Amino acid sequence: MEKKVLTSTEIRSRFLAFFEERGHAILLSASLVPENDPSVLFNTAGMQPLVPYLMGERHPSGVRLASIQKCVRTGDIDEVGDSTHLTFFEMMGNWSLGDYFKQEAIEWSFDLLTNSEYGFALDPQRLYVTCFEGNDDAPRDEESADIWREIFKKHGVTGERVYFLPAKNNWWSPGDNGPCGPDTEMFYDLTGKLTHGMTFDEYKKTDEDQKVVEIWNDVFMEYVKKDGKVVGKLENKNVDTGSGFERVVTVVQGKNNVYETDIWTDTIMETRNISDNQKSERVIADHLRTAVFMIADGVTPSNTDRGYILRRLIRRAVFNTKTKKISKHEVQKIVATIIKKYDGVYENVVTQEEKIISEIVGEAEKFEKTVVTGLKRITDLFKKENNIDTFALDNNDLFDLYQSSGFPVELSLEEIDRERVSKGLSVIDNDLRKKYLEKFNEEMKKHQELSRAGAEHKFKGGMGGTGEVETRYHTATHLLHQALRDVLGTEVSQKGSNITAERLRFDFSFPRKMTDEEKKRVEDIVNEKIALKMPMQKVVMKKADAEKTGALHFFGDKYGDEVNVYFIGDDIETAYSKEFCGGPHVTNLSELGHFMITKEEAVSAGVRRIKAILD
Ligand code: SER
Repeated sequence: MEKKVLTSTEIRSRFLAFFEERGHAILLSASLVPENDPSVLFNTAGMQPLVPYLMGERHPSGVRLASIQKCVRTGDIDEVGDSTHLTFFEMMGNWSLGDYFKQEAIEWSFDLLTNSEYGFALDPQRLYVTCFEGNDDAPRDEESADIWREIFKKHGVTGERVYFLPAKNNWWSPGDNGPCGPDTEMFYDLTGKLTHGMTFDEYKKTDEDQKVVEIWNDVFMEYVKKDGKVVGKLENKNVDTGSGFERVVTVVQGKNNVYETDIWTDTIMETRNISDNQKSERVIADHLRTAVFMIADGVTPSNTDRGYILRRLIRRAVFNTKTKKISKHEVQKIVATIIKKYDGVYENVVTQEEKIISEIVGEAEKFEKTVVTGLKRITDLFKKENNIDTFALDNNDLFDLYQSSGFPVELSLEEIDRERVSKGLSVIDNDLRKKYLEKFNEEMKKHQELSRAGAEHKFKGGMGGTGEVETRYHTATHLLHQALRDVLGTEVSQKGSNITAERLRFDFSFPRKMTDEEKKRVEDIVNEKIALKMPMQKVVMKKADAEKTGALHFFGDKYGDEVNVYFIGDDIETAYSKEFCGGPHVTNLSELGHFMITKEEAVSAGVRRIKAILD
């Protein structure tokens, strides 16, 4: 019987259904643009939006979570076009916040990967795993290894399968600070021949030769890092798993390269029309897909930070076309094909198709002008310089050209080639090419160091007065909570709250999207109370008495015998809002300024999230 190949859509829904059936709340992907994390420009892993919860904050949707998260990594941008590298990818993940640990996490990973009825139907005989070998921070992870050996035995998977590796391979942390821990990684044999187990040395060689590929990583986050050092244990034993969606689709569909999966085939057919080689058709497809998702998440091309990365992606895409030009019609066709793949998955790409097209076309047109001015400037340079053999090798000309008009160094090199040929010289050879690129990169590095120093400076300067601002947001949160109950009913109750100096974020139970009118009414109520200059006051009471006042509270048994009740109004009986709360708060609402909701969205089924600002 012929085996039916799972489509990427089926793989997506099998992943989510599997964890939903095992009690996980399904989270929607967070935006590519991280909130309040100045250390990264884009989310680079599924766990990034969950860092506060892995550190101990209570998650509004519970202790079992799963998601497919949009991620961007541009570190390997030059490798894009080979068989695996992408600048945008999705990461499937499941999380336990102090709930299940190694046994369930590993069993479920194995089950989902190999079960043919509801899983990905991968061949268990082609599976290999690594575990942490231990160091001064944490012991050798025999527990995970034993769980794996047991599973392999139970499923008749024979031979050596489990290898121990050092922290460099099997310790995961999102950076120098935050949650971290040992991990166990799953690898799949791409050749289909390595089905009988391997010795450690054979395995290492196979890995080097890229005959096995990592498909899932289960991190056991029970440690915490500070300034690059493991400093202790977290309160909870957490699980953080990550599995690259595109990679899994590739192996499940039995392909050797990601562009042959159903995720890409339609798009590649389009980009093939405007490029003249395989690498270029892939680069255009990859970069435009990433641009689609960035623009949908609110990024626009510019000369700094995220906008700059987007600008580079679009320009590189255009640069990879045959003519160094892309028409509106071509952009429309490619973008529509990309978006079609995500219909029903990411609504914000579907609803913003026009905006996405116009941003890409706008940037492509700017690039075309750049190419024209850049070409003119380089021709002028050729006129000035009399020795084409050493052209622009001992000055900053190529970097300046790039810096001032975004003219890519590759294009400069092509022009130099043309000039050389017209003068009867050979084209640039590898050695010379290396010299040009070294010179260029050296200048680039100098420039980046300067701008990084600038950014740090800016960041330090902006931190004053944070405490006061946060106090105002805290009071606004109480006010918002009550206003939501006024407008939507008392089924609204707090599921989580997070405050920064820029905004408040409030999660609450409610089954559907709020209408514009409801949002407006909530804002009006909050602003009306502020205009009334109502006082915010505190009383300390016995817990039982406090409960009798009807004050809201969410943390069950976690309160002591005596509690603080904060209320808005002249006395607690007639107060507009009453909550058990540790404070701090402002003493009068007049300190808050004007309140505005900036966003209302779903966190998971039955839980909504509002972001709001005061100005
Ligand atoms: N954080 C881990 C990773 O990105 C597992 O999710 O691989």
